[in-house]
Amino acid sequence: MQKINLLVCMGSACHQKGVYHLRTALQKLLTDHRLEAQVELKGAFCLGPCMNAIVLKVGDQLILNVTPENVEQKFADDILPLLAEVNG
Ligand code: FES
Repeated sequence: MQKINLLVCMGSACHQKGVYHLRTALQKLLTDHRLEAQVELKGAFCLGPCMNAIVLKVGDQLILNVTPENVEQKFADDILPLLAEVNG
């Protein structure tokens, strides 16, 4: 089965907002939800809306304003539904 890409913007605006810590937190959330076999966390160049850093992308959907503090909420509210959608 093809893995779903969860893109994490590594551009400078997102970097400044703590994307390094966010990546670690996302990896843990994927592991906790037993999704690490299905979802690939990948770094990406600037995804566009730097004003809304940190920016993630699943399929063609952007997830905006993700922070190390709100990542668990964003994961439950936005990321998990998008992963399910892309997975069909
Ligand atoms: S640096 Fe992340 S969206 Fe531009």
